[in-house]
Amino acid sequence: MVSRRGFLTGLTVVPLAAGCVARSTSPTPQPSATRPLPIPPLAESSVDADGIRHFHLDVRQGTSEILPGRRTPTWGYNGSILGPTLRARRHESVAFTIRNSLPEPTTVHWHGMHVPARCDGGPHQTIAAGGTWEPGWTIDQQAATLWYHPHPHGATEKHVYRGLSGLFIVDDDTTDTLDLPEEYGVDDIPLVIQDRRFTADGTLDESDPTDVGLLGDTIVVNGIAGAHLDVRTDRVRLRILNGSSGRIYNLAFADDRPFQLVATDGGLLAAPTTLHNIQLSPGERAELVVELRGRERIMLRALPIQQRRDIDRAAAFGFDDTFDIVQLRAAPTLKPSAAVSNSLTTIPALAPIGAAPDHTFELKWFMINGRRMDMNRIDMTIPVDTTQVWSVRNNDNWPHNFHVHDVQFQVVDVDGQAPPPALAGWKDTLYTEPQSTYRLAMRFAEHSDPTYPYMFHCHLLLHEDHGMMGQFLVLTPGQQAAPMRMEMPGMDDGGPAEGNHPGSGHHG
Ligand code: C2O
Ligand code: CU
Ligand code: CU
Repeated sequence: MVSRRGFLTGLTVVPLAAGCVARSTSPTPQPSATRPLPIPPLAESSVDADGIRHFHLDVRQGTSEILPGRRTPTWGYNGSILGPTLRARRHESVAFTIRNSLPEPTTVHWHGMHVPARCDGGPHQTIAAGGTWEPGWTIDQQAATLWYHPHPHGATEKHVYRGLSGLFIVDDDTTDTLDLPEEYGVDDIPLVIQDRRFTADGTLDESDPTDVGLLGDTIVVNGIAGAHLDVRTDRVRLRILNGSSGRIYNLAFADDRPFQLVATDGGLLAAPTTLHNIQLSPGERAELVVELRGRERIMLRALPIQQRRDIDRAAAFGFDDTFDIVQLRAAPTLKPSAAVSNSLTTIPALAPIGAAPDHTFELKWFMINGRRMDMNRIDMTIPVDTTQVWSVRNNDNWPHNFHVHDVQFQVVDVDGQAPPPALAGWKDTLYTEPQSTYRLAMRFAEHSDPTYPYMFHCHLLLHEDHGMMGQFLVLTPGQQAAPMRMEMPGMDDGGPAEGNHPGSGHHG
């Protein structure tokens, strides 16, 4: 029997490494929570005479103490791992000077940002080794927790796995008026959750990806394993990013206490919703507010995945795993804070349940609609300033998710039913359960470009690297598409060049 990956790549079956399939219902042992959670610093910026806010990012190599007492070679922005948290307000103009000090090309993509296509940082905006890139735009979207990460064609998983990810927080006038914890690093805490595997000498293990990618056995939060967070207020807001390659997390507190979900990928929900757990697939974000009492110690934990209907080999995909993520340790006396506002924002409905789709997408194997990514193929063109309904179906028995650049979308319905509360707000990345159909509505406002496309793709990074991605141009009326031809030897059949993926040496 030939595995589907073998079928697609013309290579033979990959036996799963024993180390990737160990399962248990109690948490996989992690380094004990002895080190305080690092908080990514807020990026420095300066505002010029024209009111433009300038940031500098240097993409570089370094070493990090992910595991206590071990030096691990990693990549980071302005440091050795992850990156500073960028922060800017709606209607502000931002400009970046980004230097690539890596020994190979990379890109910097603004995940979740409404941005001109030439500034998007997708696979067409390569920054050569030693090169510089200077994108800039005016922010126009509601307050949200976005992120930035590399997107080089066929090598995104490797670049993210080695440490390149950072948060980009957008503020606006609405959030200023709400009762929400908002003191960065004090009661408003970023959590970048990732999973990693290490070799005996402490370097990152990039071998043996499963069919969902490089699943780690060690949870790393904000760049370290075994972190705890000292809490001094009776409410804390967690801005959580699943920055993993392929692992899906079902997050809950160990004592099953409720929390309030206040925001998803693209910003605030209309109102907080009380939940006991939330699932995040790679690339998704959630903001939640949890209450603590003095001296409490509570563990944020990842539990087995519930949305697993028709998933083949759930255990091999990490669906049965349980992990401790980060321990919250409350001070003896906590500073009281106001209850979360019970109305947060207004979300206008973009389309009714059952709206006819403008485009349909079938997710299967490493393909979308039976095709793999081609840098020289535009999959569709979209008229600027239109609202579109996209219908996305996972026709596989693998987990996939679906991410669209440039826009935040609404989930109109899931198999014809109104979406659950966690999918009722703005999203840019959505987990798709096998044999389910998701109707999404989105508006392609303002930016058009006949040359540079935006991407849509599965955000399991191995899948993306293997070509589970497509491209669209946004055009003004009457505008002709004029995409650039890229010389991509060995890539126009949809697969990254051999040797480009960390696991490629193990396929044959
Ligand atoms: Cu988070 Cu196309 O990427
Ligand atoms: Cu993106
Ligand atoms: Cu996928």
